Amino acid sequence: MISSNSPVWSDIDLIAQAVLFFIAGFDTVSIAMSFTLDELAMHPEVQDRLVKEIKKYDAKNGGKLNFSSIQNMAYLDMVTSEALRLWPPILALDQVCVKDYNMGKPNPSTIKDCIVKILTIPIWNIHRDPKIFPNPNKFDPERFSEDNKHNINPMTYMPFAIGPRNCIGSRFALCELKVLLYQILLHNEVSISEKSRFPVKLAPESMNLKIYGGHWLKFKSRNKVLFSCKYHHRRHQSAFLYCWKYASH
Ligand code: HEM
Repeated sequence: MISSNSPVWSDIDLIAQAVLFFIAGFDTVSIAMSFTLDELAMHPEVQDRLVKEIKKYDAKNGGKLNFSSIQNMAYLDMVTSEALRLWPPILALDQVCVKDYNMGKPNPSTIKDCIVKILTIPIWNIHRDPKIFPNPNKFDPERFSEDNKHNINPMTYMPFAIGPRNCIGSRFALCELKVLLYQILLHNEVSISEKSRFPVKLAPESMNLKIYGGHWLKFKSRNKVLFSCKYHHRRHQSAFLYCWKYASH
C-alpha cells in the first residue's frame, strides 16, 4: 500500500493502477460511444447538424484534427454531454461517509439505530429525474447549449462522478469519444437497421449498460458503400474502427 509518508510504489501498486485504467477506461468509453451513435441514428436531424459542424471544422483545419479543434466544437460537446446524461456508463457510485450518519430507528420495534456508513448515489435515477431534467427520456442536446446549460445544477449531472475521487480519465475519455464520433460521422451516415431494437430494451444479464439483442446500426459510407454492423460489448471500439476503415475505402 502507498502511504502519504512513504510514496513508494510496489510492483503490485503499479499493476493494480494499470489494470484499473484498462477496466475503468475501456467499456465506459465504448458504452458511451455505442449509445451516442444509437441516439444519432434515431435523431437524424441532430446527426445532420453535427455532421455540418464536423465538416466545417474539417475544412477549416485542412483535414487535420487536433485537441483544440475538438475542444472548440460546441455542438459535438452538446451531443456527447446529453448522451452521457441519458446513458451514463457508470449507473451508480458507492461512497464511504467521512463520518457516521445516524438515521434513527428504522421502525419502533428496533433496538439499534441505523448508522449509515456507505452511500449509493444513483446517477442513472438523478439524470432521469423529471424534476431535474424535464422530459428526461428525451435525447435533447439543447439542454447543454450556451443558453441553457447554466440551468443545470452541476451537482445533478455526474457521468464522471463529483468530488476528489471523480474520474481521473474524464478529459481523455471525452477526447476519445469526440475523435471517434468525428471520424465515424465524417465518413459515414449512421441509421437504424432492420435489426435495431428501438425503443431500447436493456440487457438484463449484464452489469454494464447494453441493449438487449446487441447494438445494430446501418453505416452508409459517404463514399457510397452500404453495410449493417453489429457492435458488441467489449469489442465496440475495434468494431467501429474496422467499420470506419472499411467504409472509407
Ligand atoms: C465515458 C467514459 C468514462 C466514464 C463515464 C467514467 C466514469 C467514471 C466514474 C463515475 C468514476 C468514479 C467511480 C466511483 O467513484 O465509484 C470513475 C473513476 C475512474 N476512472 Fe473513469 N470514466 C470514463 C473513462 C475513463 C477512462 C478513459 C479512464 C482512463 C484512461 C478512466 C479512469 C478512471 C480511474 C482510474 C478512476 C478511479 C479514480 C479514483 O478512484 O481516484 N475512466 N470514472
